[in-house]
Amino acid sequence: MASALRARGCTLAKELLARQAGAGIGVGSRGLASGHALDPAQTPLQQQIIDREERYGAHNYHPLPVVLNRGEGIFMWDVDGRRYFDFLSGYSAVNQGHCHPKILDALISQAKKLTLTSRAFFNDALGEYEEYITQLLGYDKVLPMNTGVEGGETAIKLARRWGYDVKGVPKYQGKILFAENNFWGRTTSAISSSTDPDSFEGFGPFMPGFEVIPYDDLDALQQKLEADPNIVAFMVEPIQGEAGVVVPQDGYLKKAQELLHKHKALLIADEVQTGLCRTGKMLCSEWDGVKPDITILGKALSGGTLPVSAVLANDEVMLTIGRGQHGSTYGGNPVAARVAIASLQVLVEEQCAENAARLGPIFREEIKAIGSPLIQEVRGRGLLNAIVVDPQANVEAWDICLKLMKEGLLTKPTHRNIIRLAPPLVISEEQLHEATGIIKKVFQSL
Ligand SMILES: Cc1ncc(COP(=O)(O)O)c(C=O)c1O
Repeated sequence: MASALRARGCTLAKELLARQAGAGIGVGSRGLASGHALDPAQTPLQQQIIDREERYGAHNYHPLPVVLNRGEGIFMWDVDGRRYFDFLSGYSAVNQGHCHPKILDALISQAKKLTLTSRAFFNDALGEYEEYITQLLGYDKVLPMNTGVEGGETAIKLARRWGYDVKGVPKYQGKILFAENNFWGRTTSAISSSTDPDSFEGFGPFMPGFEVIPYDDLDALQQKLEADPNIVAFMVEPIQGEAGVVVPQDGYLKKAQELLHKHKALLIADEVQTGLCRTGKMLCSEWDGVKPDITILGKALSGGTLPVSAVLANDEVMLTIGRGQHGSTYGGNPVAARVAIASLQVLVEEQCAENAARLGPIFREEIKAIGSPLIQEVRGRGLLNAIVVDPQANVEAWDICLKLMKEGLLTKPTHRNIIRLAPPLVISEEQLHEATGIIKKVFQSL
């Protein structure tokens, strides 16, 4: 919960928590509540590997009990040679499919030549990438980082700096708005805007200058903007991924940006999960005909090969950060630059947006047609979809994911009753039908 709300006695925070508990979603989207026991693996070999991780690794994740060692296209294989449909795609990082040959070629050939210069010197790959991505996505400039959460941190710094230098907000009074149930990572800043207790509880004190409004609520945005001239930006996911693939009303981003501009504030679109063709457009904001003032990308920018993120903005915003005021040792390294060009080219050449736009409605219709009383809702856009399992049912999304795994399809619950379904975007219609068959079989067996 934002610190401002905490400071006010956390009334809204408490309301939110009560509501989340009522809806049975008071657990982290990346795992179940801490202390939850691991499920047994399918074979002794896999159990052995899991036990070693459990013994020597931190317990900050709760993976499904399957050990993978190979991926190609839309499939992954476990160490015993069983094949699985990948319906998580590394949380939408593997949009181009596993081990895409063009992306691997770019990775390997650049890695053999030069891997890291740091930004103390120039390298001959970064400029080429910067030119390519800015022209492709229509921004003046890009700032390269590594992880998605660093992209968010960068966007916040840019917005604050723009707030002081351009908008004229008094020094260190700038505020950023976020939406309830946002997810943008695990740093102390990211958890300071979080409304998920698993994310923030026990990790304070929290970052000041953050406030939270309900998602998909333009009146709430308007009221905040009218009440507080120090708001510099609203950072929002065009579709909330970790919250359970929550699709806002049509035109939400467009109207939000109009309101923000009226009050001289920026729209920051967190497209780390929704971007790069996942929802059927190169950027999800295109559905609303919007060019956000700042766009954050990550995940599929490297097709699942290494952490590459990017922040895009026009000069008025981007040039408020000067030389020596922000950076990262690995950000903009030549391997990342070549991999990002190849990853974007694959998305364009293989028409991943068109494929996601075409297959999304077919997929949702097929899932709805299963007609299971357990399925309360099927929602999403393009190939970012979710099944909402009836929270009153005595089966949890986790158990369904275990059954799907045993039938050869991998995905992960987000919260207790929501199953996210996001295959690589290179999936064919035939493969999609086959995967839907598995989902149908599992729901019919419950
Ligand atoms: C919308 C969104 N933003 C940011 C992030 C953080 O990305 P990373 O895990 O690469 O830091 C995520 C991760 O799931 C995300 O879904």
